[in-house]
Amino acid sequence: MADRPIGGSGGRRARETARELARYEALFAARTRGMKSSAMREMMALTERPEVISLAGGLPDTSTFAPELYAKLMSQVAAESTARALQYGPTEGMAVTVDCIVEVMAAEGTSVDPANVIVTTGGQQVIDLVCKALIDPGDVIVAEAPTYPGAVPTFGAYQADVVQIEMDADGMPIDELESVLDRLAGEGKRPKFIYTIPNFQNPGGVTMSLPRRRRLVDLARERELLVLEDNPYGLLRYEGEPLPTLYSLDASLGGGGAVGAGDDGVASDLVIYLGTFSKILSPGLRLGWAVAPHAVLEKLNLGKQGADLCSSPITQLFVSAYFAERAADGRPAWIEYVERLRDLYRRRRDVMLESLAEHFGGRASWTRPEGGLFIWATLDGVDTTDLMGRSKGVAFVPGRSAYMDGDRGSGSMRLNFAGVPEEDIREGIRRISAIVGPNTGMLMGTLTGSEPAGQPSRERTDPEKDAKLAEVLELPRRSEQDSPSRRRSRDR
Ligand SMILES: Cc1ncc(COP(=O)(O)O)c(C=O)c1O
Repeated sequence: MADRPIGGSGGRRARETARELARYEALFAARTRGMKSSAMREMMALTERPEVISLAGGLPDTSTFAPELYAKLMSQVAAESTARALQYGPTEGMAVTVDCIVEVMAAEGTSVDPANVIVTTGGQQVIDLVCKALIDPGDVIVAEAPTYPGAVPTFGAYQADVVQIEMDADGMPIDELESVLDRLAGEGKRPKFIYTIPNFQNPGGVTMSLPRRRRLVDLARERELLVLEDNPYGLLRYEGEPLPTLYSLDASLGGGGAVGAGDDGVASDLVIYLGTFSKILSPGLRLGWAVAPHAVLEKLNLGKQGADLCSSPITQLFVSAYFAERAADGRPAWIEYVERLRDLYRRRRDVMLESLAEHFGGRASWTRPEGGLFIWATLDGVDTTDLMGRSKGVAFVPGRSAYMDGDRGSGSMRLNFAGVPEEDIREGIRRISAIVGPNTGMLMGTLTGSEPAGQPSRERTDPEKDAKLAEVLELPRRSEQDSPSRRRSRDR
């Protein structure tokens, strides 16, 4: 089974599928044309093979969770809450689970009113429900470039017009965002929301700086724009100081003031916050949440009723039982577990950074994330989608899947360092290097804003040549006035 070729017997299966699709063509809704297969699905099939080292997927290392504790909590739920666990639950989620969410949010430095929370079937469902509530075909979403590959098919399915803004080492440049908003306003368009992953961005690995966070919130308030803050990784920080969430920044200003509420310093009325238990506990639970203004929450709730009525009470009760556990030193067990994950993932990140330097020094660039699960690496003269096609023993996410147009990002790849042991990280990077071969050129970093790691600094004597190079290498073209260094100093 594990050795079954992807997609069955290749060409024949593809031809059959094409014939089938033609048969049903007239029946499919127009929105299905925007539904591109997420790169993840193919990736998952490949990673089923035991001989493949997977640096793809957004997998945390669930083998680190103590089996005895898992068994104990499951038995406890089964024995003590049989009827509740097996019953439907409220659409907005069980109060005991919402209490846990409030606790996680507090650990993120963000206080929330439980009445503003909805429990969802993973954070992925929040993205879907927000689109369901806000997006008509052709509506504009502003997102980062690259963006979360799992959001790409969702935005496509709702036929959104997604404007992606290239990030640099400090995340989404707010000056750029402002120009985009002005341009859109000139065309009579106002984005339905701005989608951002401020911490250890998936896939970019970069973090939005504090000044930019403040400016983003100010801009959203000035222009009455909703922001979807997607934050699965905030607690997985391996170095540096935690930064406030956009939600808390807006709430501390008394909410945006656009829709009422939010004047108590707890609720934001412009930021929809997305959280999840997937990375701090387990994606198998399929539990996430949104914190949102009441009016939006109401629509998310209605959307969820149509999607799945409620998230699983079994796993909600599991979370509640887990959050009551204490570690040997008396601290909440979940906090101790997150600390262990941090230590483990920090080491793995460092091993991947070392391996990249060993095999790609001078001919590629990559980000150095302060947390999260991913490194974004960029190579010159390589199409990582083709590379993935040729790859036998290693999987990664090709950069194109992080762009709505499927064109940009072709030289980049997302590498997960968290879900695999150190020796697999080393071997995986070695295998990628072997498929790439020794003859790739050099490239300026798309997100690092730097020369390739291990490469001496190039003198910038010819701005015109640089601009051409930027074009060839698919870097966003920046005028001298808007160079990364200038912009950074302005944004700080
Ligand atoms: C940025 C981002 N948002 C949302 C999700 C969805 O996660 P889940 O549905 O498992 O909560 C992920 C998962 O990798 C993610 O990286």
